[in-house]
Amino acid sequence: MTEAIERKKSLGELADELEERMIDELDRMVSKSALFRMADGNLGPTQSGPLHKKHPGKVFLMGDDPRLPKMPARPTLLDFMKYRSRGNNHLLQSGLHALNAGMNETTITACLLHDIANGMFIKADHGYWGAQLIEPYVTEEISWAIRAHQALRFFPDESVGYPYPELYVKHFGADYVVDDYVRDAYEKARDHKWYMTARMITVHDIYSFDPNKQVTWDPFIDILGRNFKEPKEGLGYDNSPVAHMWRTIIRPTKYL
Ligand SMILES: [Fe+2]
Ligand SMILES: [Fe+2]
Repeated sequence: MTEAIERKKSLGELADELEERMIDELDRMVSKSALFRMADGNLGPTQSGPLHKKHPGKVFLMGDDPRLPKMPARPTLLDFMKYRSRGNNHLLQSGLHALNAGMNETTITACLLHDIANGMFIKADHGYWGAQLIEPYVTEEISWAIRAHQALRFFPDESVGYPYPELYVKHFGADYVVDDYVRDAYEKARDHKWYMTARMITVHDIYSFDPNKQVTWDPFIDILGRNFKEPKEGLGYDNSPVAHMWRTIIRPTKYL
């Protein structure tokens, strides 16, 4: 047996051990959604049957995942930022950059929320997912701009000093060509009345204009208060068309 195969086998064993330990500690079996399994390149069947066989008497997790921070009963946007989101500093730095540049509150809010999907939900097509997630709670202009920023990021606009991001060359390679639907979205957005709002997201989409600066939500509380309508029932429980998306973020491993 080659060393490579041995190493692969031991990784698989490690994963099994981890799963066992998790089930012991949680006293519940955790099932992974198809998307989580696909992220590991796995299109195989769900593990429900084998897990039941292995752990007779144990049931699947249907409530809060004890490995994740508990969320309030009526969570607000900032609760999600605190208990579920990663990468908030990027959002805050973008928001601060827009604030310092004297942008209006629509643009500042759009900058603050533009990558909300990446931090707590899904990266692929993040502009679309992010826009959808907040659509019922912000103006149409804000969600439109967030949806469009995904495509606009790939296309320079010299009129506002926005070049193709060097980071994208690093991330995707110098020869990367965007998908057709991204180019189409860019071309449509270019003629839209809110093009410049979306374009401003890209201008202020700064990864770390000051890497040592930790920005807080404090300067944005009032702006978000005016531009993000919190449902009184809490995000996830207001019966809006996207409530289920917030609930999935609260309980990502709920069996059904
Ligand atoms: Fe983005
Ligand atoms: Fe960004």
